[in-house]
Amino acid sequence: MIKERIELLRQELEQHNYNYYVLSSPVVSDFEYDLMMKQLVDLERQCPEYFDPNSPSQRVGSDINAAFKQVAHIYPMLSLSNTYSAEEVQDFYDRVSKALNDGFELVCELKYDGTSISLTYQHGALVRAVTRGDGEKGDDVTANVRTIRSIPLRLKGDFPSVFEIRGEILMPWAVFDEQNREREAQEEPLFANPRNAASGTLKLQNSNLVASRKLDGYFYYLLGDKLPCESHSENLQKAATWGFKTSDATKVCKTLDDVWAFIKYWDVERKNLPVATDGIVIKVNSLTQQRSLGLTAKSPRWAVAYKFQAEKALTRLNSVSYQVGRTGAVTPVANLDPVQLSGTTVKRASLHNADIIKSLDLHIGDMVFVEKGGEIIPKITAVDKDARILIGDAVNFIKKCPECGANLVRYEGEAAHYCPNENHCPPQIKGKIEHFVGRKAMNIEGLGGETINLLYQNNLLSKISDIYSLKMGDLVQLERLGSKSAQNIQLAVQKSKEVPFERVLFSLGIRFVGETVAKKLAFAFINIEDLITTNYEQLVEVDEIGERIAQSVVRYFSDEENLKTVRLLKEYGLQMTLSDDKLEAMGTSLSGQCIVISGTFRHHSRDEYKAMIEQHGGKNVASVSAKTSFILAGENMGPEKLKKAEALGVQLMNEEDFLSLLIKE
Ligand code: IVH
Repeated sequence: MIKERIELLRQELEQHNYNYYVLSSPVVSDFEYDLMMKQLVDLERQCPEYFDPNSPSQRVGSDINAAFKQVAHIYPMLSLSNTYSAEEVQDFYDRVSKALNDGFELVCELKYDGTSISLTYQHGALVRAVTRGDGEKGDDVTANVRTIRSIPLRLKGDFPSVFEIRGEILMPWAVFDEQNREREAQEEPLFANPRNAASGTLKLQNSNLVASRKLDGYFYYLLGDKLPCESHSENLQKAATWGFKTSDATKVCKTLDDVWAFIKYWDVERKNLPVATDGIVIKVNSLTQQRSLGLTAKSPRWAVAYKFQAEKALTRLNSVSYQVGRTGAVTPVANLDPVQLSGTTVKRASLHNADIIKSLDLHIGDMVFVEKGGEIIPKITAVDKDARILIGDAVNFIKKCPECGANLVRYEGEAAHYCPNENHCPPQIKGKIEHFVGRKAMNIEGLGGETINLLYQNNLLSKISDIYSLKMGDLVQLERLGSKSAQNIQLAVQKSKEVPFERVLFSLGIRFVGETVAKKLAFAFINIEDLITTNYEQLVEVDEIGERIAQSVVRYFSDEENLKTVRLLKEYGLQMTLSDDKLEAMGTSLSGQCIVISGTFRHHSRDEYKAMIEQHGGKNVASVSAKTSFILAGENMGPEKLKKAEALGVQLMNEEDFLSLLIKE
């Protein structure tokens, strides 16, 4: 009975997934969907014997950290030879014509610009997902791929009992933009383009995180002994009926003119697609003809890619200006004569950093090529040196901050220059305050960028602690701010004094201390005083606190002004200690113990074990040393760790013993 109910819920949820993620036409509300999912999760929890890795409930992923297994491809994953011009496409057509000595059809498809994947299905169930790797073998990323909602975990209809399907995993533009906005706010390095974002995500060792990145997949190539049809296009249509997302743009062409019409149309229209494409793929439609044409070592003779030209324009470089961000990073920006590029007027282009300026050998007045590639911001790719008549001044990266005049610095291993004057450089001050009041930080609503700017200009706000000494009178005298808004700001400021310690720590805006790191630090040091007086060695001992973060924390608390600000915040009544209930929840059975986690586990994920250790007063450390109390050892523990543990006489403890240790508390 329960088994049938589980099965029914799984089927219905998969159908809703398909409607939503493949067809883009949901038939139930999110609420109804969530309700059904909750029922399924509850039933599966009650009856673990019916566990199925392909259940829709598994699409949320898990954070178990198991290194990817390498898997050999049954059919090597070849690449395509590229063409860039009408002549080269004509050459391909002539070669095929000559070799076949018969009529043939071509299929034109979009060339998706993501990361390729090969899926194996057995009896309608997804059993394996492998990356391209070196073409011969790739990484088994099945757990991650299961989280991609548009990829069917179980198929519908009359599919072959065993087959492979290949396609492209992509991060849609909208998700890419959202991810980069978040990354910028968290001071994490930005993804250069959706392709890197997709391949990076697929290689994450945490399928929870993969699930949150909302990847998508388009499929374009079937392989197997018993494919249903004799032509590629019909096989793709079949695959669509089994539940795969295939491209609507696929077109059977009888002549090269048809191919050109397709190319011309999609070169423009692709800009309206939700995902990145970088060309089209032309394939011989008949599988018999494909076989007769065969393969070269690197690519099939029956297909070719035509790459779209990156759109380029030639214009003059008038000047270079430098922008200083909230973190002090200085970005050079080229100011150009306005020029049309892919439907927009481009006046500015990013120059990224000093190394790029140098490698371009830029001079003011140069005619430069601007391109919009996979990236959103246009960039300068080359200088037309032949167009130089009079050579202007060479562009040299500035030495001083354009906002505050401080000498710029360049940290080891980083391409960017920074203004180190964190507390007195206007954009950095304002940026720090904006970060402090943000929703995930102190959540002081009503204090937006404009108000902060006004308060700053009126000398009412020059550091975060000033927020707590703002008077009603200060606020209402500002233009554009009514007394109601001023009152709301005051209320929000008061309320922020209840924000828990870990979020206060995040709000301070210490470089590299994002939400998660702030939490780790708060749980490891319990109060601000202990964090202030800690040192680099103790910091790196904390799990997941690396050298870069440790250095940044030490640097922050060794600055007198920062210390003054923190003390003032404490006096104003902000939470500077972990709350009592969190402290209590932490327990003490592991207090003072340094524990290393190694291997893969059955009962809980690695992150869950980490949290348990910390909650019970222990410290999770990354590497085995004489100070290690014991190793929580799962299956397939790393051989290096094992050797070290044996050499140092460190005890290994299995999952079950560890769990019973905690229960005894
Ligand atoms: S067919 C034997 N079709 O482009 C070749 N590939 O440069 C089978 N790609 O590795 C590939 N869109 O990752 C094919 N419609 C499409 C494609 C496509 C993107 C990627 C794929 C392949 C690479 C080759």
